[in-house]
Amino acid sequence: MTQVSMTVNGKTVSGDVEGRTLLSSFLRDHLSLTGTHVGCDTAQCGACVVHVNGEAVKSCNMLALEAEGADVGTIEGQADPDGSLNVIQQAFQDHHGLQCGFCTPGMVMSAAALLKENPRPTEAEIRKYLEGNLCRCTGYHNIVKAIMAASGQDVSHIAAE
Ligand code: FES
Ligand code: FES
Repeated sequence: MTQVSMTVNGKTVSGDVEGRTLLSSFLRDHLSLTGTHVGCDTAQCGACVVHVNGEAVKSCNMLALEAEGADVGTIEGQADPDGSLNVIQQAFQDHHGLQCGFCTPGMVMSAAALLKENPRPTEAEIRKYLEGNLCRCTGYHNIVKAIMAASGQDVSHIAAE
């Protein structure tokens, strides 16, 4: 076992992990941050997306030890300081951007990373950015609409689905 330390949602954390321990496992099993979902463990579904030093990363595709010293953000750290939903989370709620919710943490984390680098993405740009995030409920239409709304764009002309 090797000790790993990192900052998660602004707090310094550490734990003893095996070399093979994935970042997703460290977050879920060591820190009980189970909002990061694991849908495939093979870097395909995107349910496990977190932020590592500001970049969207599939946490099942990174070893915990590779995140030594990193600044990690998870869905648990996304709410506004007063505990209310942030603008992306609120848009997902307002525009029915979730059904079962399994993909939602990864979608929200990917959306946050997208809007940081591209504050007003087109629908095509959103769809391209989300190609690594799968929704088994196939709720893509409203997810894309929610992200457009979160970026401040008028989505009133886009039908609900
Ligand atoms: S659990 Fe990481 S991509 Fe599916
Ligand atoms: S809302 Fe069910 S997997 Fe996306």
